[in-house]
Amino acid sequence: MSGTVGLDLTVNGTRHELEVAPWTTLLDLLRDDLDLTGTKKGCDHGQCGACTVLVNGKRINSCLALAVTRPQAEVTTIEGLAHGDELHPLQAAFLQHDAFQCGFCTPGQICSAVGLIGEGHARTRDEVREAMSGNLCRCAAYPNITDAILDVIRQEV
Ligand code: FES
Ligand code: FES
Repeated sequence: MSGTVGLDLTVNGTRHELEVAPWTTLLDLLRDDLDLTGTKKGCDHGQCGACTVLVNGKRINSCLALAVTRPQAEVTTIEGLAHGDELHPLQAAFLQHDAFQCGFCTPGQICSAVGLIGEGHARTRDEVREAMSGNLCRCAAYPNITDAILDVIRQEV
């Protein structure tokens, strides 16, 4: 297609060869081209964290990333965290700690928490709160979200 750019992305372990307009954000590519609507569009301006996904293992706001700037990235979305029927430990912990109400922010919260744990810097409640401050929750489930993340951090040490 004229004016498009070729991409070779691996999303949740599946390789995709795509042609996208250069202004397509990674968020829109995931939701509109790949039908992975678990990743949410909240503000579309990098302010809420609802669109957080993992790119090459690092958490990013996918609404701020043009897809063409990640030509051969490995992307993980909320749909790629579970193994079959076995939930990711953070998904299980969010259920156990009742860490959501409407659930709109939850995919971004969980992907962000996966990135946070991979970074390995946050250990205390205050550190987790600080490191998760880019992920807003309008339902204010913050205490339970923090409990869930701390639970998984403690399982891993
Ligand atoms: Fe990306 Fe809000 S939708 S930060
Ligand atoms: Fe509703 Fe977070 S659970 S916005």
